[in-house]
Amino acid sequence: MPATSFKVTLQTENLQETRYFSANADKTILQSAELAQIYPLSSCRNGTCRTCISTLISGEISYNIDWPGLSAEEKLAGLMLPCCAHPLSDLVMRLGA
Ligand code: FES
Repeated sequence: MPATSFKVTLQTENLQETRYFSANADKTILQSAELAQIYPLSSCRNGTCRTCISTLISGEISYNIDWPGLSAEEKLAGLMLPCCAHPLSDLVMRLGA
């Protein structure tokens, strides 16, 4: 069965550019971006370093680890870590916090 695919709208941190790519539910958002030849900053790729921190403007995600390096308050404020987040719907997100 093919993986569910969603559309991601990605704004750069300075809002000068908007990119679009498809993200499969079975891949992290960072992996899907890289498959589309979009390379957000990243380092640990396991939710620890926060290098990839981004802002989720709309859409639903899930994490493949129990405690990504975000506080509950940061998650409520829309911050996300695309290196360990998977899409559950179409997403609009912005690089950076
Ligand atoms: S690359 Fe380290 S938290 Fe995402």
